[in-house]
Amino acid sequence: MLENVPEHIAIIMDGNGRWAKRRGLPRMAGHHSGMKTVKRITMAANAIGVKYLTLYAFSTENWKRPKEEVDYLMKLPELFLEIELDELIQNNVQVRMMGDRSLLPPHTLKAVEEAVSKTVHNTGLVLNFALNYGSRSEMLLAVKAIAREVQEGRKRIDEIDESLMDHHLLTGDMPDPDLLIRTSGELRLSNFMLWQLAYSELWFTDVYWPAFTEEHFHEAVQEYQRRIRRYGGI
Ligand code: IPE
Ligand code: IPE
Ligand code: MG
Repeated sequence: MLENVPEHIAIIMDGNGRWAKRRGLPRMAGHHSGMKTVKRITMAANAIGVKYLTLYAFSTENWKRPKEEVDYLMKLPELFLEIELDELIQNNVQVRMMGDRSLLPPHTLKAVEEAVSKTVHNTGLVLNFALNYGSRSEMLLAVKAIAREVQEGRKRIDEIDESLMDHHLLTGDMPDPDLLIRTSGELRLSNFMLWQLAYSELWFTDVYWPAFTEEHFHEAVQEYQRRIRRYGGI
């Protein structure tokens, strides 16, 4: 288990609403319960030596949901950090966030930025929240920034390569995910890390995110460890 551990795991945490519905609970109860899964899986990832854990918490498309639900989802980061930040710090976890900060309510942004700044020097697991994140808008921003560099004469067109593109994405210095997990039985990417997932191993489960346990997580990692990554070779 501790050999060939994925360096970077990305997770599309899906199925909170259906988990709640199945129990006759409001969708918010599913999101609240999903928050506990975040804690469990963060600790499980840290324990096996994963270096980066990226969690899709809110997409640029999730603003379409009813206001009540969006408001609740925007409260979750502060709720989570209020409860868990101290323990994350004790465990040397570094909190990061990727996504468009400009549309986040001030209270959400404040909690996240506080966690980011308090943990910036930690050297353990990087816990990267994709919050108001959308891969297409991330790529467009990168393309615009590169175009500007060319226009201003700071780059030549033939200097545009994959590493320059990497550098301009929100994942910056992070390696691409080795393993992508999606819960809840949906088999799609939903605008998540389209560039970075080019050669990631994909693992899907029908389990809803609130019901996702350390055992499921270990199952995904063990399956990853059995896979042969060819990158187009033989
Ligand atoms: C994932 O659960 C959480 C977010 C997308 C914010 P959902 O809320 O999408 O749950 P389902 O897919 O409706 O069950
Ligand atoms: C993807 O889940 C976004 C997050 C997990 C934050 P969705 O529930 O929004 O995805 P779709 O709408 O089913 O594709
Ligand atoms: Mg969903």
